[in-house]
Amino acid sequence: MLIDPDFWPAGFSALLENVSEGIHIADKKGMTRFYNKSAALIDGIKQETALGKHILEMFPSLTEQTSTILQVLRTGKPIMYREQEIKNLYGVPVYLLTTTIPIQVKGHVVAAMDISQNLTQVKELAEKVVGLRADLKHKNRHSLAEQAVYTFDQICGEHPLLQDVLQRARKAARTNSPILVYGETGTGKELLVQAIHNFSPRRNGPFISQNCAALPATLMESILFGTSKGSFTGAENRPGLVELADGGTLFLDEITCLDIELQAKLLRFIQEGTLRRLGESQIREVNVRIIASSNIDPLLAIEENRFRPDLYYRLNVISLSLPPLRDRREDLPLLVDYLLKDLNAKLQCQISGIASDVYEVFLRYPWPGNIRELRCTLEGAMNLAETGNIEVAHLPPHLLQKIVHDHPLEIKAVEDLPLQEALAKVEQTLIRSALDKTDWNISKTAKILGLPRQTLQYKLQTLRIER
Ligand SMILES: Nc1ncnc2c1ncn2[C@@H]1O[C@H](COP(=O)(O)OP(=O)(O)OP(=O)(O)O)[C@@H](O)[C@H]1O
Ligand SMILES: [Mg+2]
Repeated sequence: MLIDPDFWPAGFSALLENVSEGIHIADKKGMTRFYNKSAALIDGIKQETALGKHILEMFPSLTEQTSTILQVLRTGKPIMYREQEIKNLYGVPVYLLTTTIPIQVKGHVVAAMDISQNLTQVKELAEKVVGLRADLKHKNRHSLAEQAVYTFDQICGEHPLLQDVLQRARKAARTNSPILVYGETGTGKELLVQAIHNFSPRRNGPFISQNCAALPATLMESILFGTSKGSFTGAENRPGLVELADGGTLFLDEITCLDIELQAKLLRFIQEGTLRRLGESQIREVNVRIIASSNIDPLLAIEENRFRPDLYYRLNVISLSLPPLRDRREDLPLLVDYLLKDLNAKLQCQISGIASDVYEVFLRYPWPGNIRELRCTLEGAMNLAETGNIEVAHLPPHLLQKIVHDHPLEIKAVEDLPLQEALAKVEQTLIRSALDKTDWNISKTAKILGLPRQTLQYKLQTLRIER
C-alpha cells in the first residue's frame, strides 16, 4: 500500500485503501499524500506515480479554479456530490460523482480529500433502459411492460378515509391536472396511480414510472428530458421519459428526492407543456399527465428545503393522501381475506384464515410497513402453516414485541405523588402512547403532541423514555 507513514494512522489507511470509491488526499500545498487503488483505476494513473505529485501535475487539464481539491484547500468548504464527466489517462470516458471535504486539525485545513464514485456503468445502464423503453414503444405501443396493470377494483378497503381518497381519485382521473399522492411506504401509492391511469381517457396511452431517488441529478435530467448528440461525451439523439409518455401518464415516484434544480425544470414543463432535450434548441410539445408521489410529508420536505414550494403548489392541485394501515384497522379483516385469497393462489396453499388471537395481534401492531408489511407477514406465516388457520406461533417475533399496549392513565396511581413527579408520570404516559402510535417516529410524534421536535427530544432525555 502506498502511504506516507507520517501523515496518516496505519489502520485508517488500510480501510481507505480498500473501499470501492476512489480516494485522493492532498496536503495543503496540493501534493498527493494518499491515493488508493480505486482512484488509480478510475484515473488510469499508477499509485506510485501519483504519490508526492502536485494535483496540477497529475491532471494537466485542471487549473487552480477547476480542481475541487485546490478549491477546498482554499475555501475550507466541502463540495458535495459534484458530477464530472472526464476522460482518464487512457482516453476512456468516466462519469464520476465526487465529494471533496477539507481535513482539519485544530481548526486549520491541513489537507483535502476527494471521494469519487465511479458511476460510468450505472449511467450506461440507465441510458440503455431509456433506449429499450423507446424501442418498446416504437415496436409495440400496447406492450404490457409499459402499461399500468392495477385498477380501482383491486384496491381493497371500506374505511371512510380510504373511500374518500378513492372517490376523489376517480373524479381526478377524468382531468389532466397534475396529482400529488402522499402516503407512507406500502400504503398503495403505486396501486392508486396505476388505477387512476387505467380509469382515465389516457388508458390506452403509455404509463411510465420513474423513481426519482435512484440517480444523480445530471443523469436524471437526461433520462427525463432526453439528449441530443454532442450534449456530453457519447450522448445520442434520443427522447427522455417525458416524451416517451406522450399521450399518457408519467409517474414520478419519490418526487422529493429529485434534485432541486431539476424540480424547477419539471415545473416549467408542467406549466408550458413543452421541453428541450439536453443540448438542443428545438422546443417540443408533449402531452403528458404528471402524477408524483412522496412517502414523506411534503410540507416537512419543503421545510427541509428538499421540495420546491412552487412545484408543490402546482402538483398539489389534486392531492391524495393515503391513510396508514394503523388508521384504518377496521379494514384488516377485509384486507386479510383479500390477501390470503391472492396468496393462496400464488403459493398454492389452502390457508382458511387467521386465528382470533392473530387478529388481536394485528389490531395492536402499528404496521410501519403498512399493507406491504401485512402481505409479507401473511406470506411468511403461510410458509409455516401450509394448511388450516394462521396461528400466533407462525408470526415473526418482532411483530409480537412491537404490539402497542394501552397505557391506561389512572389518576389514583399518581395522586399521592408530589405534583412535579405526578406530572412527569402523566407526561411520560402520554408521550409513550403517542410514540407507539407512530412507531417511534419522532417528527410525527412531535406533531401529534403539538411540540417542536427538539422539545420532544429534550423530554425523551429528561424523562428517560426509551424504546
Ligand atoms: N388497498 C389495497 N388493497 C390491496 N392491496 C394493496 C392495497 N394497498 C397496497 N396494497 C399492496 O401492498 C403492496 C404495496 O403497495 P404499493 O407498492 O402500491 O405501495 P407504495 O405506497 O407505492 O409503497 P412505497 O412507498 O414503498 O413505494 C403491494 O403488494 C400492493 O398490491
Ligand atoms: Mg411505490
